[in-house]
Order: sequence, then C-alpha cells, then structure tokens
Amino acid sequence: MSDFKQLSRSVKGLTVIVTGAASGMGRATARVFAAEGANVAVTDVSEEGAKIVADDMVAHGGSAKAWRLDVADADDVKRVVDDVAKQFGGLDIVVNNAGISTRLPIDDGGYDAMWDRGIAVMLTGQQRMIRAALPYLRKSKCPRIVNIASTEALGATALHSPYSAAKAGVTGLTRSLAVELGREGITVNCICPGPITTGMTARIPDEQKAIYAKRRTALNRYGDPEEVAHMTLSLCLPAASFLTGVVIPVDGGLMARNA
Ligand code: NAI
Repeated sequence: MSDFKQLSRSVKGLTVIVTGAASGMGRATARVFAAEGANVAVTDVSEEGAKIVADDMVAHGGSAKAWRLDVADADDVKRVVDDVAKQFGGLDIVVNNAGISTRLPIDDGGYDAMWDRGIAVMLTGQQRMIRAALPYLRKSKCPRIVNIASTEALGATALHSPYSAAKAGVTGLTRSLAVELGREGITVNCICPGPITTGMTARIPDEQKAIYAKRRTALNRYGDPEEVAHMTLSLCLPAASFLTGVVIPVDGGLMARNA
C-alpha cells in the first residue's frame, strides 16, 4: 500500500522548537510532537516549567530538551535557537506559541507598558524566532512555521486591545512571510484558537466558561489544548507541503456562529 502515496505523514526525526511550552497548548504541542517521534526543544520563560515538561517526555521515551527562553529578549532568542540546532543537529519546525493575557482599558495608566509587553511577546517575538531559525530552516527538507494567534485576531473582546492588535499582527506576519519564503519551500501558517482550557483561562470560573461556550461556540464547550496541538502537527507534516499562508480557526465553531 505504501506505493500509493509519495508524501509522508510522519515528523519522526525532525526537530521542532516550541515557545511557551511549559503550559497549555505549548505543552500539548510539545507532547504530541514527541509522541510522533520528533526531537522537541521545550522552551519557556519559566525554566523550571520547561524542564518539568521535557523531563516527563524523556521519561516516557521521547526525545526532548529544555531551554529557558523569553521570546521578548532578542539575544535569548538567537542564543537558544542556535543552541537547539547545535544540540539536535538542525532545526526543521518553529511553533510560535508563547503568549500572555493583556486585559485593561485603553485609558489605563499602565496601557503603554502592557501594549509594549504584549506586542514584544506575541508579535515581535514571533518574527525574531523566525529570523533566528531561518538559516536552519533553509537547510531542512521539511521547513515549517506555525504561528499561534487567536480568534481575537478575527473578532474582538472589549479591554483586550493590545492582545487583539498583536494577534491580528500575527496573521499579517504569517501571510507576508508565506509569500516571501514560499519560493524556498518554507511554509508559514497560523492557527487561531478559540476558548481553550489552559493556564491563560484558568482564572475564569468553570460556570462562566460553560455559559460562554454554550452561547458562543457550535460545539458548546471549551477546547482541550491537544485539539489545537493536532492541527499544529498537521500543518507541519511533510505531506502539508502545498499549504501555506492560511489562518485556521480551531475554535469549536466560534467564528462560524452568528446565533
Ligand atoms: P498558558 O498560559 O497555559 O501558556 C503560555 C505559556 O507561555 C506559559 O508557559 C508561559 O510561561 C509562556 N510565556 C509567557 N511569556 C513568555 C515569554 N515572554 N517567553 C516565553 N514563554 C512565555 O496559555 P495558552 O492558552 O496555552 O497560550 C498559548 C497561546 O495560545 C498563546 O499565544 C495564547 O495567546 C494563545 N491563545 C490562547 C487561547 C485560550 O483560550 N487559552 C485562545 C486563543 C489563543
């Protein structure tokens, strides 16, 4: 049967770097890639968090290493990406996942500081990761970039303007780099998760989550981080070689629903 297809659906032996991988969707993504046989660079601003995730994956037979990485720190980004490529003998896949919540009104005294941090972590950090990884992706036989945005890039919630602006920026960055890097066979895609049960949404009481999900999503529930991680994996398969520049909501039907 294997003669009937030319393209592989395996990431075995490929190396992926995941940012913000100590929690939520980043952790689920790291685990899914490890389960599929990839070498996983588990990176997070929390050194301890990254180490716990990587150690657990190694204990379960995965190939993983941990790095402390603040994606808002340009030197950190370059140093860690170079070290990941050195340790694993290359780098094939970048998953730009790290994110923070930036909830506050436009006239708040701390707005500028929140804006700067939100843009630095969720938008500037993504382009810096991509630029640092580019020399290695250019040598890869399966170069893939997945940027995590949000349904807040497609619609918006009050009091989240730095977040929405950063995430909308990610969709633009994705499309532009998909066009720029396409001739080199490097694919760049974006996922917009809807409401997902992670560290970021942990403070929302379960009752409130259930009401929101019933009112807003087609599937009437919050998503699990692994449900997003599997879409990320799909975009990174060797077989996903003709898919680039897309922005995919993984949102339980939130964006499709009017009433
Ligand atoms: P989470 O809070 O569970 O995980 C985020 C991780 O990013 C944490 O481990 C945190 O330490 C790390 N992080 C924060 N700042 C960092 C920095 N400067 N450098 C490196 N790592 C950093 O949150 P979640 O939900 O898993 O978030 C993952 C991505 O998904 C984020 O980009 C978020 O904006 C996005 N997202 C989340 C949604 C949700 O409902 N949970 C919905 C839509 C998008």
